[in-house]
Amino acid sequence: MGRKKVTIVGAGNVGATAAHWIAAKELADVVLIDVVEGVPQGKALDLLEALPIEKRDVSVVGTNDYADTANSDIVVITAGIARKPGMSRDDLLNTNFKIMSDVVAKAVAASPNCILIIVSNPLDAMAQTAFKQAGLPRERVIGMAGVLDSARMRTFIAMELGVSVENTHAFVLGGHGDTMVPLPRYSTVSGIPITELMSPERVQAICDRTANGGAEIVKLLKTGSAYYAPSSSTAEMVDAVLKDKHKVLPCCCYLEGEFGIQGLYVGVPAQLGAAGVEKIWEITLTDSEQAALHKSAAAVKELVDVLKL
Ligand SMILES: NC(=O)c1ccc[n+]([C@@H]2O[C@H](COP(=O)([O-])OP(=O)(O)OC[C@H]3O[C@@H](n4cnc5c(N)ncnc54)[C@H](O)[C@@H]3O)[C@@H](O)[C@H]2O)c1
Repeated sequence: MGRKKVTIVGAGNVGATAAHWIAAKELADVVLIDVVEGVPQGKALDLLEALPIEKRDVSVVGTNDYADTANSDIVVITAGIARKPGMSRDDLLNTNFKIMSDVVAKAVAASPNCILIIVSNPLDAMAQTAFKQAGLPRERVIGMAGVLDSARMRTFIAMELGVSVENTHAFVLGGHGDTMVPLPRYSTVSGIPITELMSPERVQAICDRTANGGAEIVKLLKTGSAYYAPSSSTAEMVDAVLKDKHKVLPCCCYLEGEFGIQGLYVGVPAQLGAAGVEKIWEITLTDSEQAALHKSAAAVKELVDVLKL
């Protein structure tokens, strides 16, 4: 019985750091692939040389050739350009659409049984692009955004209340953009909704900071965008699938009527296991939460319509 194999397309900040988390957790053998020659090979070798110290037995290979990615269990796609200050995620649309279409075709041809985890932005439209290009069932094409947005919200809740991050839980649904929908009613500290623990003004401040979490880091970095938390979030989804954990996480999924949304990738609570998305959890939303989710879905639809998907 061999080890599981995870390919990461794009050996930039998010891709290389995802490789780091996956190897450090000894989840799978990792193949890092990029268009730039030498970079995936160099980063993979560097990471591999850390593993005797970390006591982790996985292989890490860098390549420019999809033949090396053959028969991957999971393919994570981080290829594309990232935001610069003043840019929205949507500004990346056309460039990343071309890259996504190209890399998905090659990756799926090499690994027809894989589960795709899409990371490149604008996330929801890129997940939809990958889904259409791959021709895989919806269960096997999943976008990563909600785990990150919820982790940011959890961080802010822990900072606000001075409690362990381990005690926090948060749910952020909708598209991965300004219209994302943090759900304070479903965000808790040891099971207690945060709406019971802080004033409505502080709850709103946390929701606002969460929705602007990516832009806050872009502004600080000045070049490039966040990658530690995004790659950790990706590794969390990889872990849930490879270990068949049946873990409920906010993921960007193709909806076929759930939450009243048809034919569109949007962030919803999803149960992840070996088959990919095992179930979409249609939790009850208030009228205003439902309206916010639909507004967010409409923003995703605008981008998807531009791409004629
Ligand atoms: N979903 C999320 O929550 C989330 C979070 C952070 C970043 N992102 C997105 O992830 C993407 C990657 O971000 P980053 O910070 O790693 O950017 P980066 O610029 O550091 O890395 C991108 C890599 O993609 C490679 N690439 C470009 N075209 C390629 C192709 N055709 N085939 C293979 N590789 C190719 C580049 O050479 C580069 O190494 C961006 O689109 C960014 O907006 C998404």
